[in-house]
Amino acid sequence: MSPEDQRWLDAAVRYATPFLGTTGDNPCAAALVVDPSRQTLIARAVTARGGRPHAEAIALASAGLEAAGSTLYATLQPCHHWGRTPPCVDAIVRAGVMRVVVGVADPDPLAAATGLEQLQSAGIEVVLAEHAPSAALHAGHLHLRTDGRPHVTAMLVVSADDRIVSPAAGAARAVLDLQRARADAILIGAAMARHHNQQLAVAIPGLAARTPLRVVLAGAQGIDRSLNLVGRLSGYRTAVIAESRVPVDAPASVEVLRVAGLNGHPDLREVLTALGKKGLQNLLIEPGPRLAAALLQAGLIDCFGLIVSKDAANDGPPAASTGKVAKLIAAAGLVETEHQNHDTATLKFYRRPA
Ligand SMILES: NC(=O)c1ccc[n+]([C@@H]2O[C@H](COP(=O)([O-])OP(=O)(O)OC[C@H]3O[C@@H](n4cnc5c(N)ncnc54)[C@H](OP(=O)(O)O)[C@@H]3O)[C@@H](O)[C@H]2O)c1
Repeated sequence: MSPEDQRWLDAAVRYATPFLGTTGDNPCAAALVVDPSRQTLIARAVTARGGRPHAEAIALASAGLEAAGSTLYATLQPCHHWGRTPPCVDAIVRAGVMRVVVGVADPDPLAAATGLEQLQSAGIEVVLAEHAPSAALHAGHLHLRTDGRPHVTAMLVVSADDRIVSPAAGAARAVLDLQRARADAILIGAAMARHHNQQLAVAIPGLAARTPLRVVLAGAQGIDRSLNLVGRLSGYRTAVIAESRVPVDAPASVEVLRVAGLNGHPDLREVLTALGKKGLQNLLIEPGPRLAAALLQAGLIDCFGLIVSKDAANDGPPAASTGKVAKLIAAAGLVETEHQNHDTATLKFYRRPA
């Protein structure tokens, strides 16, 4: 991969990122059609809302005849199978593209198989770049196809003295809202749902419609429609996940998923598998201290966002019952990969090393 290839793939990832959460059960891919001699952009596209048509098909259609002799940059390996849309590989060959640079291979056997060989046998130069930002963009899809569960991000807001702060405000609120808008579902524990009785909507002006599926994880008491999230008409979708024997009283519009129990709670691994079966790629969890600890101990968090307010709370529940929450995160094998300094809080992201 040349430095130019790297720059175009980086640009493709930046272009696609704000569209995360809009492509349903299809990956949020970007495709750029580039004139290789002038190094100029001819056309670009992200997979359409709901997941179809795919980015490559839209970009090639928009490039028209100019696609002949071009380089196509695709953040994810183009599909080569007939699904709900025709194969992108055929469109690439028909358009006369000369070179294809792929950010990350698709582990989906339907998409992968012999797709790249098919391009090569049509005389197209193919570069499989193993581009880390493309892999990060498609982390949800890659997880779903390899482990059958979504990529899990947890976000927790704590005070400077490591106590639970809720609800989030200021910069923390904005960061959380952005994460919500880019997720396919938000999950909270029943205790948190009961405590704040909130709607979990995206509060960024103009982006309320990006509120994803809201999922409430029931505890031993079960769930009933007195909770706003379950019983109140909001225009947003809700699902409840409960252990098979606990009572759930919800309107028909609320999807109820039953999973096996473990130590009196829904088995968290089963919870993620159930969400994976629904095709959810990126799950945001906003846990309280108990759920955060249970998820970390089960090794089920891929990315932990810790928002630390610059103010001390002085009272309120501690973020972790045993020592500092950062210690729990480290014990789960996550390492700090990103640090942002905002006016009122710092934001740290911890991820599983590759
Ligand atoms: N600052 C923040 O970012 C933030 C975010 C969320 C919540 N909070 C605060 O945290 C407090 C609630 O904390 P919490 O620890 O009680 O509640 P939590 O973390 O929301 O989770 C515990 C809830 O999930 C249920 N649950 C289901 N399966 C579970 C499992 N496998 N493991 C653990 N719990 C499971 C529990 O049921 P049972 O009741 O049957 O145990 C309980 O209702 C509230 O005061 C809220 O304001 C703060």
